Amino acid sequence: MLDTLRSVIQLKPIETDATARRLAKAANVDDLRRMAKRRLPGGVFDYIDGGAEDERSLHANVAAYGDLEWQPRVLRDVSTIDPSTSVLGLDCAFPLMLAPTGFTRIADPDGELAVARAAARAGVPYSLSTMGTRTIEEVRDAAPSGQHLFQVYTWKDRGLVGELIDRAAAAGYRGLLLTVDTAVLGRRERDVRRGMTLPPKIGLGTFVDGALHPAWTWKFVNSEPITFANVAGRAVGDGGDSAVSLGAYTAEQFDQALSWADIDWLRSRWDGPIVLKGVQTVDDARRAVDVGVEGVALSNHGGRQLDDAPAIAELIEPVVDAVGGRTAIIADGGIRRGSDIVKALALGADAVMAGRAYLYALGAAGEAGVDHLLADLRAGVERTMALNGANTVTEIDRSLVRWKR
Ligand code: LAC
Repeated sequence: MLDTLRSVIQLKPIETDATARRLAKAANVDDLRRMAKRRLPGGVFDYIDGGAEDERSLHANVAAYGDLEWQPRVLRDVSTIDPSTSVLGLDCAFPLMLAPTGFTRIADPDGELAVARAAARAGVPYSLSTMGTRTIEEVRDAAPSGQHLFQVYTWKDRGLVGELIDRAAAAGYRGLLLTVDTAVLGRRERDVRRGMTLPPKIGLGTFVDGALHPAWTWKFVNSEPITFANVAGRAVGDGGDSAVSLGAYTAEQFDQALSWADIDWLRSRWDGPIVLKGVQTVDDARRAVDVGVEGVALSNHGGRQLDDAPAIAELIEPVVDAVGGRTAIIADGGIRRGSDIVKALALGADAVMAGRAYLYALGAAGEAGVDHLLADLRAGVERTMALNGANTVTEIDRSLVRWKR
């Protein structure tokens, strides 16, 4: 009997690191989201998790990937899977780029530095947002992988935008993402209800919320103030002196007059590839090719801007049919699994971008959380390729998926 017991009871070594113990239980992005929800104050979590108005585009982005089913090929010798690719001259260990996200330090004080380091370790490009809370140079120094993109919002102060672009070039950033879906800020009603400001204010409500999330609050009050680091000290306001509502800030500072004609200006300031992030129709994708940009990121800003904007998975194929091969096509939004990445590629995208998924990971467990997520997404890509008989990304083609409806 003792022998039988010994054979079934196998004591696993006890994991002494609390973060590793927590992460061992995170089997997917949803688990990381739940962990982030427990650890972050409500207002912070809702800023990351929420979308515009009824959040239909937010959910549709995710749901659309579930509307595709595989047509798997078998008996293909999948003993060697290689998920690597190259997009816009950047090497991707698997077909993912990390999307730019604003205010990353509200999820964890290291913020963009933690995410950029994890991206470099995983061999995928990282995009720093203009609304980032670490500077262009800090990110370069923390993760000198030479694989970063810089995202541009156009302030009305065009001189300032030009300076940021020059700094990104000097720091060796490899491409620009011009966000084109944010003339004004979408109405994120969770933030309205919470009175969310950036950086978060410690008011009576947030004080109680902070007390209920002591680990986050301890780190928040013990690290340097959160500001729009790249414009620190400039007249446009850096969030340092007074907390701002993002909607009011955007309305005051961003250039609502931005138009197609401005792409020439961008081109005159920047030698490398330019990607328009936020293209949402076939016609605009054609126009993007006409003005000569190297890439389009099909994106509805993670459902944070115009609610009922089209789900990204549904846009990929028509855009690929119209302009595929003439510009890089990046699908941004709704990526929660490695299998979603493979589906986007099967529809014709060259790579995908994900933002929220890594913010959940960062909020759940800091830098180690992002490492965990990226390993999980890569493993998901490789498993999905193996189960579909695709050894390389060039073997991931349209014949692998069909719409269920
Ligand atoms: C947002 C901006 C900062 O989506 O990109 O909140």
